[in-house]
Amino acid sequence: MRIVAAIGGSILIKDYNYKKFQEYAEILEKLAEEHEVFVVVGGGKPARDYIQIVRDLDCGEAKCDDIGIEVTRINAKILLLALENKVYQKVPHNFQEALEYSASGKIIVMGGTEPAHSTDSVSAVLAEYVKADMLINLTSVDGMYSKDPNKYSDAKLIEEITATEMLEVIKGNDVKAGTYEFFDMTAIHMIKRSSLETVIANGEDPQNLVKAVKGEKIGTKIISK
Ligand code: UTP
Repeated sequence: MRIVAAIGGSILIKDYNYKKFQEYAEILEKLAEEHEVFVVVGGGKPARDYIQIVRDLDCGEAKCDDIGIEVTRINAKILLLALENKVYQKVPHNFQEALEYSASGKIIVMGGTEPAHSTDSVSAVLAEYVKADMLINLTSVDGMYSKDPNKYSDAKLIEEITATEMLEVIKGNDVKAGTYEFFDMTAIHMIKRSSLETVIANGEDPQNLVKAVKGEKIGTKIISK
């Protein structure tokens, strides 16, 4: 299978140390023995911190996004270092480069591309671009809930939802640099139009990536309708 895995920066760089990079490198290396693997990594807290500095300079949101993208590429580069020779040694800056580099047969790791969306979108567009069989979004929560689980104790994990239903729920969310909510709209539109099998799962445990690839019931599955 050809797999695109999006790993949130909030997972990878949460504790500001090497551990999650190393854990993911081991898992990705194993997955790559049987599958073609593309990885998109997010910016996490360092991206938001840097974005805040640029926002305070009053440069406009697109420049804030630009700085966010640079941070995602630093995270991508660190994962690339953790993967040593199993990975193509350059971070693609766009989808064409990602496809070109994949001819090497190695794992591809990238961060952001252009302003005005998050790495969720990058992963969904990449999955469409390379005709991936599966998109797995590893985030800091278990999946999508019926309501905010931090506020409501009776919030339930949604096991399956269509992209159309998800768009309804998410519309109205913020679209500012560093604050693209839970899952960004562009990503859902891409999933809707491209018959892409998508799973959102908790990336705190990197084994959840393996479970999702195996088709085990985990997180929230987005049906492409
Ligand atoms: P992320 O996609 O990592 O945002 O990129 P995030 O929502 O904070 O995700 P987590 O915490 O990693 O899960 C960081 C910021 O970089 C800019 C956006 O401003 C985004 O919020 N960005 C990223 C872009 O503008 N374009 C991209 O292609 C990627």
